Amino acid sequence: MVNFSILSPMQVYIGNGEIARIPEILLQAKPTKGKVLVLTDFGVSATGVPKRISELVSSQGFSVDLIDTVPREPYSGEVDLLASEARNKGFEYIIGIGGGSVLDTAKLLSILLVKQSETVESLLEKGIPGGGLPTIMVPTTAGTGSEATPIAIVALKEKKLKVGIVSAFIVPKSVILDPSCTVGLPQEWTACTGVDALCHLLECYISKRANPYSDLLALEGMRLIFSSLQRAFENGADLDARADMLLAAFYGGRCIASSSTTAVHALSYPLGGMYRIPHGVANAMLLTPVMEFNRDAVVEKLKQAVSRIGMSPILRESDPSVDFVYSIRKLVEYLKIPTSLRDFGISKKDIPSLTDRALQVTRLLSNNPKPMSREDVEAIYERVL
Ligand SMILES: [Fe+2]
Repeated sequence: MVNFSILSPMQVYIGNGEIARIPEILLQAKPTKGKVLVLTDFGVSATGVPKRISELVSSQGFSVDLIDTVPREPYSGEVDLLASEARNKGFEYIIGIGGGSVLDTAKLLSILLVKQSETVESLLEKGIPGGGLPTIMVPTTAGTGSEATPIAIVALKEKKLKVGIVSAFIVPKSVILDPSCTVGLPQEWTACTGVDALCHLLECYISKRANPYSDLLALEGMRLIFSSLQRAFENGADLDARADMLLAAFYGGRCIASSSTTAVHALSYPLGGMYRIPHGVANAMLLTPVMEFNRDAVVEKLKQAVSRIGMSPILRESDPSVDFVYSIRKLVEYLKIPTSLRDFGISKKDIPSLTDRALQVTRLLSNNPKPMSREDVEAIYERVL
């Protein structure tokens, strides 16, 4: 068994209506000024959820500033700009409401608002020097799992790459998994963020860093996704399916915190960094070809997954691992996620530079169950052209 650690938020509240607990969580911190930053983006703002939470918090006597300008897949400089906007305003708490970009930005701001002289780049260089403001995370997608991880992903404009800043100091303090906050998620985002969660669970399950804790959560998370993602996709108001997906995404985050994602995420980062392809879409495109590449190295684990998840055979192959990979391909097809890099203006001539950047993501590639050469990476990108 590999050595592993468990890092987790202090409080996690799960269920419909649980956002009502936010004032109580804030009061536990005994704030002196009662100033709270609510951070989100335009898309989430339009659903009315941040307004609902801001009103809830201000009705208990807190002073709330709402910033709803977090960009999708933000560059480091954009996070620094948000930090300078929010500095020196006496915030004592940050509530992040949104998908991965918002929650990761909230994690970075929690540090940058306290460590006034730091920038995202300096945190990347030197590491995170200490604790910051406490955070409450309210995911409005069921994909990233950022609410459960010690990682903040940010894009570097010059290097055209996305990188992860990892530190126990950015593990969120409190998490609210309230399915009523995800009912406004559009169908295409339900699809691609749901597949992102599946990637987290599956990649962590077959990772070289997989361990008994991450396996336990990965298997249950994948079971929830195979039983509920299509339902949430077909009927966004299905609160039970939404709750299952929130839980699966949270388990995915816990898996990342204890194990690690692998080649799907490594090859996906340049697509986000260079072309700003949404993270879940990039992962969904890569998931099947990467799993077809990895399959023969993890036959036994995939066989166990088929039996634990209770999947019914599709191809009736003698090898259940073939069935498993086929089921993934069918799920991604069902969800109508774009499948071609050409849809994003990428052509064959771009593959060498994508490959250069993917090979730099050694933090994740080194955990892939099977070594991946330059030729292997190029062949996978060519499969999704
Ligand atoms: Fe992801």
